[in-house]
Formats: sequence, C-alpha cells, structure tokens
Amino acid sequence: MQAVAQQIGQAQVRAVVTEFYSRVRAHPELGVPFQRVSDWPHHLDILTHFWWVTLGGEKYLGHRYEVTERHLAAGFTPALLDIWLALFTQTAHEMLPTEMADAWLERAQRIGKSLRILYVWQQDPTRADREL
Ligand code: HEM
Repeated sequence: MQAVAQQIGQAQVRAVVTEFYSRVRAHPELGVPFQRVSDWPHHLDILTHFWWVTLGGEKYLGHRYEVTERHLAAGFTPALLDIWLALFTQTAHEMLPTEMADAWLERAQRIGKSLRILYVWQQDPTRADREL
C-alpha cells in the first residue's frame, strides 16, 4: 500500500504547509511566536520535509530537527496548540480529500499530544502523571 505521503504527493504537501503557515502568521495569537522565524522560505522547506517524512516519504534534507527544544523556547502552550490544531484541521479539510486530510490530522494530533506532555512535564514533573 502507498504511504500517505505518496497518496498526497510532495507538491500538495508543500501547498498545504504553505497555506497553513500563511494563516498562522495572520492569526492574532498564533502569529506572535512565529515572529521569531526570520527566513520563511527556509522554514517552509523544513516543515514540508518534516511532514513528507512523517507521512512516510523518503528523507531528502539533512536538517537536524530539535522539535522539543525549539517549541519550549518559542513559548509553546497547550492553548496555542488547540488553536494550531483547529487551524490545521480547517486547512487540511479545505485542501485535501477527507481521507487524506484525516490521515494527516491523525499524525498532527499525536505529535501535539507529545508536545503537550513535554510542556506539562517541563512545568512540573509531578503533574504529568495526573493530568495527561
Ligand atoms: C502538532 C502541532 C505542531 C507541530 C507538528 C509542529 C511542528 C514543528 C516543526 C517540525 C518545527 C521545526 C523544528 C525544527 O526545525 O527543529 C516547528 C517549528 C516551530 N514551531 Fe511548531 N509545531 C506544532 C505546534 C506549534 C505551536 C502550538 C506553536 C506555538 C508556539 C509552534 C511554534 C513553532 C515555532 C515558533 C517554530 C520555529 C522555531 C525556531 O525555528 O526557532 N508550533 N514546529
């Protein structure tokens, strides 16, 4: 069976990522942490590659991802994550057939859950087992 990456295609992965981040940048709350990004074409390349590989495509960039560290440094919060996921759900459903959007969203939800766990743990390790 074809991986989700191949079903969607690299051009369409890039198109969804590009549209999503243009909405992120225009969002009153979510746009704020993204002001730290100075090179948007590079950021879009990295995010397109991230999703391509996460959806099962072949790696083609040598970028060293530091997802945990970068999000904690960027002011990640569970409230911003909820906005991120809602905006991404809307964008994916507008741009992709339902089945492909849902396959992509399932992975986004899972990564979101991991980021949430790391955030709570970093705030107070004793809360992590009770609140997640
Ligand atoms: C499931 C949700 C999310 C996913 C899958 C995701 C994914 C990513 C990835 C893969 C990167 C590149 C990291 C690297 O180059 O090492 C990144 C960067 C970034 N993300 Fe997220 N992200 C999510 C949610 C959020 C949220 C809620 C925020 C709000 C603060 C956020 C803010 C940022 C910022 C500001 C960067 C750039 C950091 C830098 O380069 O210094 N992300 N994200």
